[in-house]
Amino acid sequence: MHFITFEGCDFSGKSTQIKLLQEYLEINNKKVCVTREPGGTILAEKIRELLLLRNEISDPLIEYLLISAARKDHVDNLIKTKLKEGYYVISDRFYDSSVCYQGYYKNLNTTTLNIIKELTINKFEPDLTFLIDISVDEILKRKNIKRAENNIYDNKNQEFYQKIKASYLEIANKNPHRIFVIDGNKKAKDISKQIIKIFTKKYYS
Ligand code: TYD
Repeated sequence: MHFITFEGCDFSGKSTQIKLLQEYLEINNKKVCVTREPGGTILAEKIRELLLLRNEISDPLIEYLLISAARKDHVDNLIKTKLKEGYYVISDRFYDSSVCYQGYYKNLNTTTLNIIKELTINKFEPDLTFLIDISVDEILKRKNIKRAENNIYDNKNQEFYQKIKASYLEIANKNPHRIFVIDGNKKAKDISKQIIKIFTKKYYS
């Protein structure tokens, strides 16, 4: 199975790295399907709209139930189908995001996370996950540049990013067989080289 996910804080550079891995695979004549969460199917993209429209759904259980419904549709109707057809499926975020944002950050308890997971995707998980880890200073720097360019406003502060970063590192610590922590402060090309090295070691050696 070739299911790869990317995780990390906003502004970590996930999407650039996904593009570079996709390019590498396509140059090597592999079939690649790039997708994202929440999203990836018509239904899941509709749920994404709901989640982003409300921006912050204050009840973490409601948020997690919506994300989980989207994830079940995504897994059943896109990811598994593509994997069967021999695609490398790369998802921008997956279940680790729920553990990080709804679990660690919003205090949804582990039992609830696990019960719904079991009902929706059961034991299905990526076989390889890249966690792009960048310093909070770098996040804030990148965010200010984007904000000036696109007139974005959001109220996430330094403390939020520190918590998300720490939670992700804890999740990585608990799943060393699958999650590789990548230093995202480096240049994009150097990060990509490291990702491709880990990738080729996993699938071709
Ligand atoms: P998005 O704009 O795609 O952010 P990014 O570019 O950083 O991926 O929005 C996705 C948001 O949804 C992001 O803030 C994290 C959140 N999210 C959760 O809270 N739980 C989840 O399980 C997933 C998949 C995403």
